[in-house]
Amino acid sequence: MKQSSLQVPGFAGIHVALIMDGNGRWAEAHDLPRAAGHRAGVDAVRRVVEAAPRVGIGTLTLFAFSSDNWQRPPRETARLLNLVRSFLLQAARDLASRDVRVTVIGRRDRLPPAVQRAVDLAERATTWGRALHLRLAVDYSAREAILRAAARLAALRAPTREAFGRLLAEVDHDEPPARDVDLLVRTGGEQRLSDFLLWESAYAELIFTDRMWPEFDATDLEAAVREFARRERRFGALSPAAIA
Ligand code: FPP
Repeated sequence: MKQSSLQVPGFAGIHVALIMDGNGRWAEAHDLPRAAGHRAGVDAVRRVVEAAPRVGIGTLTLFAFSSDNWQRPPRETARLLNLVRSFLLQAARDLASRDVRVTVIGRRDRLPPAVQRAVDLAERATTWGRALHLRLAVDYSAREAILRAAARLAALRAPTREAFGRLLAEVDHDEPPARDVDLLVRTGGEQRLSDFLLWESAYAELIFTDRMWPEFDATDLEAAVREFARRERRFGALSPAAIA
């Protein structure tokens, strides 16, 4: 399988980022409340986390809660963050024994204290996991992260892409920095990036699927990785065939 240029020791395999869209529409289609869609979304999260190492994924970043999600009704944001909290508490028990490292990227200062405690617990309990690096993006905005990293840029004598990438990782609590995104998948039929990992996805392959997130399973994940493996990544250069 082709790899991106940025390699981080410890996690073999590609970096897949997932925009998990369609919980609400899935619930509506099944005559269920939106909350049931989000709960079914967590089941899908568990399926992909289980499958990821088997299909060659070393780093998996899930968009769990966008900074723009604060605009939703407080009842829904509380439910979403509560699901994140329960997932992290369970992760601290189960994922550590499955060699999965769990970290959270994004702002922490606006999260309810119980969620902050769950983040700390899950990160500490899984710190030695090496089969998969699972990153949850919570209160995450790529543009806000870029702004905050840019504010630290003046302190650098020689700004380079790599140095800026390290600053971004620093503001996102992502140390050592994860490798760039190789493949970004969005479910739910929309075709946009919604302020997710804009810098890190500069050369990511993009896949948009009509599957609603609660329907997404290991077969869909494997199909996406297979599609990725068929793509030719040139990073702006020419393919070897064109040079020969
Ligand atoms: C989009 O569905 C999805 C979200 C806003 C967040 C995804 C959250 C989960 C899958 C549950 C919690 C996550 C973890 C990692 C425990 P939507 O409500 O925007 O769907 P719609 O566009 O159909 O309304």
